Amino acid sequence: MSPSRHYLQFLDFDLQEYLHLFERTRWIKDRFKRYERYWPLQDRTLVMIFEKNSTRTRLSFEAGMQQLGGAAIFLSTRDSQLGRGEPVEDAAQVISRMSDIVMIRTFEQEILERFARNSRVPVINGLTNEYHPCQILADIFTYIEHRGSIEGKTVAWIGDSNNVCNTWLQAATVFGFNVHVSTPPGYEVEAERAGVYDDRFYESFADPMDAVRGADLVTTDVWTSMGFEAENDERLRDFQDWQVDADMMRAASPEALFMHCLPAHRGEEVAAEVIDGPHSVVWEEAENRLHTQKALLEFLVIGKQNS
Ligand code: CP
Ligand code: NVA
Repeated sequence: MSPSRHYLQFLDFDLQEYLHLFERTRWIKDRFKRYERYWPLQDRTLVMIFEKNSTRTRLSFEAGMQQLGGAAIFLSTRDSQLGRGEPVEDAAQVISRMSDIVMIRTFEQEILERFARNSRVPVINGLTNEYHPCQILADIFTYIEHRGSIEGKTVAWIGDSNNVCNTWLQAATVFGFNVHVSTPPGYEVEAERAGVYDDRFYESFADPMDAVRGADLVTTDVWTSMGFEAENDERLRDFQDWQVDADMMRAASPEALFMHCLPAHRGEEVAAEVIDGPHSVVWEEAENRLHTQKALLEFLVIGKQNS
């Protein structure tokens, strides 16, 4: 049995593989929009394990798998033995003998890696404390759909240097764009945690207005990610000046897009007039989770297909 290919962080695929996934995404999305059946994963099963809440990730993987002709099974820590201390290595052995692919949303990246090491089938990162690769897969596809190539462009990241930020930083090294990051003091990017050792593709700015100046894409995320709720009050105070508002969007390129992985808190990390305004593509971004992940499932389960 050849070892499975996993998708645990953005750097697991190279540029050619991403370009292939985007080509397949366009093809799969187009067929889906024309109500044409495409069932390459008939009789295949995806198991989804959630240790944190989700709307988009669960829905896009579950609907996506069904639309590809397969089945999806939802497991949560609350109602499986995973929540009662069964070793992750044992769970991986068992779950991967009963399925064709596994998606996991959990806490530390290390948990996901331990599962993958013991899995007989591909494992996908559905979000960890460190990374959210499926999100940035959809975000870059969305950018390209609206504006063409992202190479050489500037992405402004405003707010917390969290899992989504880390993944943008990894993606910049694959696609050759620049990330201008602005975080409050004490929340700066940690290169090792981000898994980014090439600092040519990002620059840090103390003032968020400097980070957004001329940017092609402005993006942010919640001030308190899942798993960090105990820090909520402190973060509310520390992040007050890092709200993406209309002034920031005016400082960006007139063509700039606004993205947010969602769920969003209007009045905290983003002003309502921005997320509900003309630069925002958040609904397209959310929808593209479905189409890009269908291409990802196809690639990991049955390999490269021709369009
Ligand atoms: N963006 C995202 O992953 O959303 P969910 O937490 O709803 O899955
Ligand atoms: N950074 C957020 C993303 C949610 C999709 C979190 O981890 O909670």
